[in-house]
Amino acid sequence: MLVVMGANGNTGKKVVELLRRQGQPVRALGRSPERLAPLAELGAEVLTGEAHDAAFLTRAFRGADAVYTLLPMDRASPDYHREQQRKGEAIVQALRDSGVRHAVALSSLGADLREGTGLLATLHAQEERLRTLRDTHVLLLRPVSFFENLHDVLGLIKHQGISGDSIEPDLAIPMIATRDIAEVAARAMLARDWTGHVARELLGPRDLSLREATRLLGAGIGRPDLEYVRFPDADMVGALVQAGVSETFADLYVAMTRAFNEGRIQPQQGRTPENSTPTRFEDFVGELARAYAAL
Ligand SMILES: NC(=O)c1ccc[n+]([C@@H]2O[C@H](COP(=O)([O-])OP(=O)(O)OC[C@H]3O[C@@H](n4cnc5c(N)ncnc54)[C@H](OP(=O)(O)O)[C@@H]3O)[C@@H](O)[C@H]2O)c1
Repeated sequence: MLVVMGANGNTGKKVVELLRRQGQPVRALGRSPERLAPLAELGAEVLTGEAHDAAFLTRAFRGADAVYTLLPMDRASPDYHREQQRKGEAIVQALRDSGVRHAVALSSLGADLREGTGLLATLHAQEERLRTLRDTHVLLLRPVSFFENLHDVLGLIKHQGISGDSIEPDLAIPMIATRDIAEVAARAMLARDWTGHVARELLGPRDLSLREATRLLGAGIGRPDLEYVRFPDADMVGALVQAGVSETFADLYVAMTRAFNEGRIQPQQGRTPENSTPTRFEDFVGELARAYAAL
């Protein structure tokens, strides 16, 4: 049995689909049976409960050959760090209590840094917690900016005719398709061929700036003149809060983008064929274009 947390999300859903396609028995975890129904139709066993509930997770993980874990983000939480800590502690306790031998844990580039990285500091803390496990082999996956994040700017493009963020326009960063992360996670869960605690960076096919990504996106949605605007940090916080996230989350988001802008979030291993993944942004733009057309 292979168990997948966040099975309704960007990466988890694709991990479940890949594993089911290979006929593997899969338990898909989330909070809503309705949202997980398509995975039940694929033959996954669906279990629902909260990520901060260690007893639920222990039941869900028990008997698994491997588990895929992640820290679901609660963007509306006024105390984001505390929320992530609760979930992180529950996950580690459940891995320990269920006796799972192999865990693939979604983390991030920048999780090597203890502080000064905003949102990513919670992933550093989770890596540290996972490292306390003695009887579980843990593979930490460290991708960075998901192509899927650009779904969040489609409304801005539609209504204001620009794209924007608090990242410097020409800063090239490793961006990645979540399908590539899912491929690596599913393969690792099946192979279970690592021992101890291993961190693996996943950098997408090449570094990409938001100016270039915006140009490619603009071409894909029929707005070739689409411009990327670098929002001042304070404006970005205001826009995020207006969009419904907590002030804490907005501040942490901007602190993370500041860490990128200042060059503090860097791959530790350099770019190699092993940490480069195949899906190009150009291959992904069609998904964004379909979502844009449906707005
Ligand atoms: N976005 C990026 O660029 C990026 C880069 C590196 C790392 N990360 C990390 O990736 C992780 C998120 O992964 P993802 O994008 O694959 O997931 P995701 O799309 O955010 O989805 C997570 C899923 O977990 C479920 N969930 C939410 N809150 C929950 C809770 N309290 N208890 C149980 N389930 C809950 C949700 O499904 P239901 O609502 O149906 O329950 C949701 O679909 C985060 O830890 C983030 O820091 C993100």
